[in-house]
Amino acid sequence: MNKTIAVLPGDGIGPEVTAAAKAVIETVGDQFGHTFSFTETAIGGAAIDEHETPLPDETVAVCEDADAILLGAVGGPRWDGNPSHLRPEKGLLGIRKALGLFANLRPVTAYGQLLHASPLKKERVAGSDMLIVRELTGGLYFGEPSERQENGQSVVDTLAYQRYEIERIVEKAFECARIRGKKLTSVDKANVLESSRLWREIVDEKAANYPDVSVDHLLVDAAAMKLVQDPAAFDVIVAENLFGDILSDEASVLTGSLGMLPSASLRADGLGLYEPVHGSAPDIAGKDQANPLAMILSAAMMLRYSLGMEKEAVAVETAVQEVLAAGYHTGDLATTSGKQVGTKEMSQQVIECLLSHDATFGILSTYS
Ligand code: IPM
Ligand code: MG
Repeated sequence: MNKTIAVLPGDGIGPEVTAAAKAVIETVGDQFGHTFSFTETAIGGAAIDEHETPLPDETVAVCEDADAILLGAVGGPRWDGNPSHLRPEKGLLGIRKALGLFANLRPVTAYGQLLHASPLKKERVAGSDMLIVRELTGGLYFGEPSERQENGQSVVDTLAYQRYEIERIVEKAFECARIRGKKLTSVDKANVLESSRLWREIVDEKAANYPDVSVDHLLVDAAAMKLVQDPAAFDVIVAENLFGDILSDEASVLTGSLGMLPSASLRADGLGLYEPVHGSAPDIAGKDQANPLAMILSAAMMLRYSLGMEKEAVAVETAVQEVLAAGYHTGDLATTSGKQVGTKEMSQQVIECLLSHDATFGILSTYS
């Protein structure tokens, strides 16, 4: 297959981790007989510096034309004092909205080799394997008005949802639960918010179409608590934009490092943007210290969800697991044993692991 991938490196460690993922994808191409072409384009602070906007029209056009999009990270102290329309984060929110990427999938998996790095007791976090499905183009992030009023003495942000926006994310979450552990937890604040009451109603309505999936509702504060008390109890969690943002950061550290977590942001036709959950980590940018695994695992999600390459995705995920099992880790995965390596060496190890499986993958592709 020939596939076009838009690459948006962004800021901080973004360029390093996207380069690592690109090298892994190229190896997958050689091994499985695909041709990937990459078009690099600017977003975030890098785009502000070059084009005086965090999201140039050209970037949106390149993404629309691509089969899938890889994004590194945006933001950094250099742009912190900028007015709101010139903030790097505007680029990220803008591309999600411009492309209609409403479904954000954030899998959180506890890897056996990394349990020691979790802030929770090993036995509590062991076996955790959840998927957070976050609504990404509505809610408080995009509601109007959002402004200071009365000479700056009053502020308003608006939490707005249309019924169809809730329906499509809830359906996506049910579909995900159906092919995973068949358990859906819907998170809301229905004891306070009207938007949450509609959300809950819709979840109950949709549940009738998924009799194979068990559903429970959890208030967001209780969900935050249960995530640290019993993370292994969750399968799929569905939440509105801001709740999903907060809970996914909380869940991510349970597994040892934010540096491991991938994400996919999808729209209904399959176009997707793939980015690590972590930020731009400006303190270690350019030092070859960043963990590239979240970006590499995001690329695996891209193979699966946008490019229809399931066995290629599994090959990458398997290679990552093998590299961890062999004791390789970056600085964020504090450990006394094993071998600490930098960004380049880590991605090279993943590539070598992929290559070492050539024969097996060859047999798989013959029979598929
Ligand atoms: C995320 C980030 C973004 C968000 C920021 C950078 C705007 O925290 O992807 O979770 O809040 O969505
Ligand atoms: Mg976040």
